[in-house]
Parts: sequence; C-alpha cells; structure tokens
Amino acid sequence: MEKPLSQPCLRNQQAICEALRVHFAGVSRVLELGSGTGQHAVYMAARMPHLQWQPSELAGALAGIELWRQEAGLDNLLPAFELDVSRRPWPIEGTYSGAFTANTLHYVGWSVVEALLGGVVDALEQGRCFCAYGPFNREGRYTSAGNRDLDVWLRQRDPASGIKDIAEISDVAAGLGLRYLGEETMPANNLLLRFERK
Ligand SMILES: C[S@@+](CC[C@H](N)C(=O)[O-])C[C@H]1O[C@@H](n2cnc3c(N)ncnc32)[C@H](O)[C@@H]1O
Repeated sequence: MEKPLSQPCLRNQQAICEALRVHFAGVSRVLELGSGTGQHAVYMAARMPHLQWQPSELAGALAGIELWRQEAGLDNLLPAFELDVSRRPWPIEGTYSGAFTANTLHYVGWSVVEALLGGVVDALEQGRCFCAYGPFNREGRYTSAGNRDLDVWLRQRDPASGIKDIAEISDVAAGLGLRYLGEETMPANNLLLRFERK
C-alpha cells in the first residue's frame, strides 16, 4: 500500500500550523478528528514537539495514517484510533487540552457536525481550545466562487453535506457548551474557527 496523499494538505499545512502554534502554545494533548491521510498529524506533531498529537478517523483510513506515522518516527505522534464522531460516547480515555479538525464540517451533514461538537465538549478540559479549519459561509454567503462550486459538488455527492454558515455553527456549538471566539482568514478562502470549552 502506498501512502495516501492529499494535495490540499501540502498547500494548507504551513498556514494552519502557524495559527495552531499560537492557540496550542500551552497545550499538552491534542485530539484530531477526521485526520484523513494523516499528513496534518505528522506536520503539526513535528513542529509542536511540546505536545502529543492524537489522530483519529473512520476505520478505512487508519492504515494510511499509520504509513505516514511510521515514516515520520515522531515520539509525540500517537497511532490513530478508530473514531466515528457520530457514535457517542467516544472511546477516549482521559481528557484533552486541545482539539482540531480540518475540512470535515462541510464534508458531513448537520447531525454529524452536532455529534462532533458535542464529542469535543466531552473530550476537552474546561477553558480549552477547539480549532476547526475549512470553508465556511459568512452571513449566508459564499466567500468565493470556488467555495460555491465546492458546495454544489458536495451536495450532489451527499445532499445532507455542504458548506455551513459560521453563525449557525457557532449557535449550535454554544448550545452544546463551546463558546465561539472568532475566525482567522486562511489561504484559498478557508477559515480557522476557534472555540473555547465553557
Ligand atoms: C475532506 S476529508 C478531510 C481530511 C483531512 N482532515 C484533511 O484536511 O485533509 C473529510 C474526512 O472526514 C472523515 N469523516 C467523515 N465522516 C466521519 C465521521 N463520522 N467520523 C470521523 N471522520 C469522518 C472522512 O473519512 C474524511 O477523511
């Protein structure tokens, strides 16, 4: 089996890392949801040696992540474990001082988003930070033509999925126990949303 490769990861990992290094400065354990190929996990763990990075994914993606992990040989990158965010309670031990997900909230439907946010509340220590990277709408509007095209493609693939509005996500998050702190502009019309566990 060859290592899976995501081209977007190669383009966005540096910008994401620069932001996370600020938000995860005092963090010791990060839980990543929907780790995909595992490229973000390797990149972030290598550049934030002060913390332990825990990737997670659906079962089918775990072997690919493990190939990246073994090649990287990083002490602070744990093996990914199977985590379907929609199946709660999550099979985790202890709590985390940070949580992160990239490109998942538009990829899934609202029921999965709600499960993800609720699971993050359970997993995070009080006052700790959850960062979500990806495309989001502002005040019901796409932030670019490219995101509009992506949304059409997403909804053809899965009508329940699609790019979501920041205000709607922050409302749902607030009801579950996550305070919205704000967003940062990222390359290619993506954003990094930041939340704090109440
Ligand atoms: C667009 S990919 C993003 C992957 C990676 N985070 C990245 O930025 O390249 C969306 C990921 O969400 C994962 N995913 C979808 N539904 C999920 C669920 N219920 N629980 C956990 N992961 C899920 C998929 O397996 C897929 O890897």
